[in-house]
Amino acid sequence: MKAVITATAKYLPESVLSNHDLEQILDTSDEWIRTRTGIRERRILKDPEKATSFMCSEVALQLIEKRGISADEIDLIIVATMTPDMMFPSTACLVQKNIGASNAWAFDLSGACSGFIYALNTGAQFVAAGTHKKVLVIGGEKMSAVMDYTDRTTCVLFGDGAAGVLIEPGTDENYGLLDSRLYSDGRGGANLCMPGGGSLNPTTHETVDQKLHYLQQDGRQVFKSAVVAMADVATELMTRNNLTAEDVDYLIPHQANQRIIQATAERMGIDLEQVSINIDRYGNTSAATIPICIAELHEEGKLQSGNNLILVSFGAGYTWGGIYIKW
Ligand code: ACO
Repeated sequence: MKAVITATAKYLPESVLSNHDLEQILDTSDEWIRTRTGIRERRILKDPEKATSFMCSEVALQLIEKRGISADEIDLIIVATMTPDMMFPSTACLVQKNIGASNAWAFDLSGACSGFIYALNTGAQFVAAGTHKKVLVIGGEKMSAVMDYTDRTTCVLFGDGAAGVLIEPGTDENYGLLDSRLYSDGRGGANLCMPGGGSLNPTTHETVDQKLHYLQQDGRQVFKSAVVAMADVATELMTRNNLTAEDVDYLIPHQANQRIIQATAERMGIDLEQVSINIDRYGNTSAATIPICIAELHEEGKLQSGNNLILVSFGAGYTWGGIYIKW
């Protein structure tokens, strides 16, 4: 039994942080950010009393409403996030409480920017096994909570947001999540991490003074690895499924940098017209970027039955992977 996506939804906070706003607080420029990353603005969840679970719950409620079902029909909730509300309980359990999904079990999945790809593949296994009929898979991040807004090399890149899908068993084996390839390489871990707040560097005055509670990265190393890994896994999926570049209706890549997206598409021989890009409006929302793209394509009526979609991501870990969906 193949898992099919039966509803999509997204939640973006209203508050916009533009490149011009960042010019006021940092030694940076709209021109630098746009030409190096493709980003013009990003959304920020400003209310200090709201966090990732709030955005993910908004997504979950929309998914249930759009599908016309009740919350107690949900079997499982998976939330992919690297910015959970807190270390525990999981953000997925908070979502379960918020939406009243009394029959669902729920867990978080830590795959950084590849979190949604990992989570969608994981949820699809439960559907394919025949044990779960309605699974919510959500990627959500409050990246602004782990940004050092004095560090121009990281804070200009990221934004807040959440999005997700409802997956259910399909009736036709030729449609739905047809194939996936997932990878990890822990040797890249130090190039993109948040060292504080865990059991290695528990939060203390010292770790905060050392700024260990902020995201840190070697941007150049991540850039190089991302381009190669994303193009390779996408090409592998195309080869395994006998797809040419023309057969791919939409390439839906993780939105980390417009130049990474363009280089990936070029290496695959895919025209930019076939590539879903919204990094200009939202920046990098980590695990939320791919489901936001899917939700937007769906809302705009661009996804037609039989379309071939290639989802591809790269993130901290390193983690990367791709999924082939026949819509
Ligand atoms: N404004 C102005 N200047 C800047 C800024 C900024 N915001 N940031 C860096 N610079 C400066 C640097 O200090 C450097 O100056 P120097 O030459 O005097 O030292 C110069 O610009 C060039 O810096 P580079 O790092 O070489 O710039 P690059 O072209 O590589 O772009 C960037 C940097 C945008 C971070 C790029 O490397 C990148 O996108 N990497 C991938 C990062 C990423 O996507 N991480 C997350 C992916 S995975 C996940 O989402 C978890």
